[in-house]
Amino acid sequence: MRLIVLLFATSKHGRDPRGRVVCTDPVCKTSVRVWFGMLSLAKIFINNEWHESTSGKKFPTYNPSTLEKICDIEEGDKPDVDNAVEAAKAAFQRGSQWRQMDALSRGRLLHKLADLLERDRVILATLETMDTGKPFLQAYFIDLEGCIKTLRYYAGWADKIQGRTIPVDENFVCFTRHEPMGVCGAITPWNFPLLMLVWKMAPALCCGNTLVIKPAEQTPLTSLYIGSLIKEVGFPPGVVNIVPGYGPTAGAAISTHQSIDKIAFTGSTKVGKLIKEAASKSNLKRVTLELGGKNPCIVCADADLDLAVECAHQGVFLNQGQCCTAASRVFVEEQIYPEFVKRSVEYAKKRLVGDPFDARTEQGPQIDQKQFDKILELIESGKKEGAKLECGGLAIEDRGLFIKPTVFSEVTDNMRIAKEEIFGPVQPIMKFKSIEEVIRRANNTEYGLTAAVFTKNLDRALTLASALQSGTVWINCYNALYAQAPFGGFKMSGNGRELGEYALAEYTEVKTVTIKLSQKSP
Ligand code: NAI
Ligand code: MG
Repeated sequence: MRLIVLLFATSKHGRDPRGRVVCTDPVCKTSVRVWFGMLSLAKIFINNEWHESTSGKKFPTYNPSTLEKICDIEEGDKPDVDNAVEAAKAAFQRGSQWRQMDALSRGRLLHKLADLLERDRVILATLETMDTGKPFLQAYFIDLEGCIKTLRYYAGWADKIQGRTIPVDENFVCFTRHEPMGVCGAITPWNFPLLMLVWKMAPALCCGNTLVIKPAEQTPLTSLYIGSLIKEVGFPPGVVNIVPGYGPTAGAAISTHQSIDKIAFTGSTKVGKLIKEAASKSNLKRVTLELGGKNPCIVCADADLDLAVECAHQGVFLNQGQCCTAASRVFVEEQIYPEFVKRSVEYAKKRLVGDPFDARTEQGPQIDQKQFDKILELIESGKKEGAKLECGGLAIEDRGLFIKPTVFSEVTDNMRIAKEEIFGPVQPIMKFKSIEEVIRRANNTEYGLTAAVFTKNLDRALTLASALQSGTVWINCYNALYAQAPFGGFKMSGNGRELGEYALAEYTEVKTVTIKLSQKSP
């Protein structure tokens, strides 16, 4: 790891428009450098030490923009999860260093971790770009920014998690304690690997829990790098453990484990259901799920059209379309429909697809062949079902997993592209006539993660904000996410909330303590 720090320190850096330092040296992106750097970290992290897998197996992680292997990683499975859980249980025991630590010191550790993320921001953004294919500047300014802010937000909460004193009759004193749950499992996805990890790790640690983490098999690098930072910060051994590996093996070992008290998952609805089922068949562990979305983005005729077109575009194409918040059902009021489609197509045609390390690039490759094939198959279904292909609709030839930004107009609600989560750079645009109609159609989905509304009319905005069945409603903005504001889904988009004060309830058990006073009232 130090080797890559050194290499980055000696490589060329420039400044972004906000004056912050970014890596501009093209050699920075060669996988060889990171491969060397990752050698010592490509293992299983338990008790602040790096371990080989019990099975002796390893698995590869690839760079989706070049299709080159970055490195092999030790492949965790059930025995490794068992070891990680033992370590996490021991770290959570009464009397352990972690349990005896005062809450303010827990907050300091989280602040120190945020400091190290700031120090190693270029390295982490580089690793994230190599492993996921997302544009470097996005990894640097969106993913890492979100991680640092989330850590600092929960660092501040650590010593403010208070119970209540409850009025009962005068012969009793009754109060609540908000206690940590115990060992928490975190299973994370590949679209925002580090950010989704921090959304779970920061509240879990601030409440005093211990953790067993399984990063997505496509993107384990930044999570493993965090292991080295956890050790450097000085978290007691066993508080954070990381077991890289596959879902049906390492992931399932976490969701079925009898000694894991809570599990937090971000990923597909299909696996979310499996996790809930595994929890109910094992020890009824608490479960929070952040799953898919088929999010409506409603553009009324009175909207600021420039703003709406740009937000809808960024809302669906950000991160190669691989966002649970993707604006993948755009409903546009009929008067402005032709103009909205025309401008959206202009935006999509201008979108720069290419090398994620080029500062001009807006869109990189899809994460892997499976996702690439799924997206192209859905695009074909759109063509066959009669949607009008306005632009894109194909892979970029000879370039591995890159797909052209695609816009469909004349989309109707029964088409697959209007119903299924595409998770790719595809914008389906529909037409609506009245507010009542669009409310009904927007809500006519099994999902309920986010919704967006573009209008200058306050009454319409508030009517839609109250009628839309989703965990978040954005008015005249998109992807406006804050560490302090809760995020999560209605219906099959998930259970529970991440971020904000609300997430604290997902990582604490409430204990009621009732004391009978011996002194009788006169
Ligand atoms: P997935 O749900 O299989 O993967 C997410 C995580 O779950 C990974 O860490 C994986 O190893 C783990 N996992 C897989 N099977 C498991 C099991 N049986 N037990 C425990 N953990 C398991 O998602 P996948 O296949 O990578 O993507 C499929 C679709 O899911 C995407 O096309 C997209 O529609 C959706 N998705 C949604 C995400 C979100 O942000 N809500 C993120 C990733 C995918
Ligand atoms: Mg990868």
